[in-house]
Amino acid sequence: MIRDLSDDEARAALPLKWGEVEPGVIPAWVAEMDYAVAPAILDAVGEAVRRGTTGYPPFGDLGLGAAFAGFAGRHWGWAADPATSVVVSDVVGGLRLALEVLAPPGPVVVPLPCYPPFLQVVEVVGREAVTVPSLDLTAVADALAGGARTILLCNPHNPLGTVPTRAELEALRDLARRYDALVVSDEIHGPLTLPGAAFTPYAVVDPGATVVTSHSKTFGTAGLHCAQVLTPDHERLRAVPHVQNLGFSPLGIIAGLAAWTRTDDWLAALVERLEGQVALLGELVAEHLPDARWTPPSATYLAWLDLRAYGVDDPAAAALPHGVRLAPGQDYHPGLPGHVRLNFATSADRLAAIVERLAAALRT
Ligand SMILES: Cc1ncc(COP(=O)(O)O)c(C=O)c1O
Repeated sequence: MIRDLSDDEARAALPLKWGEVEPGVIPAWVAEMDYAVAPAILDAVGEAVRRGTTGYPPFGDLGLGAAFAGFAGRHWGWAADPATSVVVSDVVGGLRLALEVLAPPGPVVVPLPCYPPFLQVVEVVGREAVTVPSLDLTAVADALAGGARTILLCNPHNPLGTVPTRAELEALRDLARRYDALVVSDEIHGPLTLPGAAFTPYAVVDPGATVVTSHSKTFGTAGLHCAQVLTPDHERLRAVPHVQNLGFSPLGIIAGLAAWTRTDDWLAALVERLEGQVALLGELVAEHLPDARWTPPSATYLAWLDLRAYGVDDPAAAALPHGVRLAPGQDYHPGLPGHVRLNFATSADRLAAIVERLAAALRT
């Protein structure tokens, strides 16, 4: 059910991931998958294009909130209220809107490492970021005691691939409540939780939280621009001027309706495939990068490799001339040497070549 794209197909489908590398370089940087989009989504979007659905999106959401609530209930037992869902252009746009409109005054806590736009979005909205080690509640408590009133959570985590337990989320909630702080949880990777881990939507433990999510990462629909913010404060988000929340597309909403309602079998096959990719990556790392330190991810299709034992400050830069583009660790944790983020949602052959080329780069 999961079909690998050929190089030519991937180049056509993924203009950023594949278009921004020289021919012969395997891209394993941006978080996009080298797999064909689920047929149910392609059919829905293709049909909409053929109908000429190229106009502005409606004021409503065409049922996207209800479709997501159905998905969240089936998969995670989260009874999300469809009325709390506000459509936005993408997850980063949703984070920005949440910070601009909902975040109480004060600095924003950003656990490191983090998806790079977390730090950028805090800066763009004119807030101060207080960085803390990931899930270090003592550091979060210090930041809150120092005046921070918003916490940006990545659940599951990019780049670590970790899935916080319910108990960990409850501990964070208790801390946030003590300071009346808002938690904004980016849950774009939630559907990509692998067997053995259990994803807990943060709103299940804290209904006062704001969750930002999208079908884009799981279903390969980022270019269609559609994400959702779910918040008890949805009226405030709906009241913003148009210029503050624009850029989502009716095709993205149509893709989302199909993703949340008609892809459960495809998603199960994807998760199984990704589980296999993690196992394959484990074999490849053991064989070619025996001194690498990593924890196989419990979610996402991203692996965070600590390669400091090889004594190369920027392994991603070293790997590029050897024919593989990886995401540099210092983009996720400023100043941290010797790490890379590797996207393993590709074919088995390409994954083998990615690891072999990285190993060759670290040997020279
Ligand atoms: C944690 C996280 N949030 C947001 C995004 C980007 O989402 P969007 O394209 O919807 O802004 C990514 C992309 O990799 C991500 O990993």
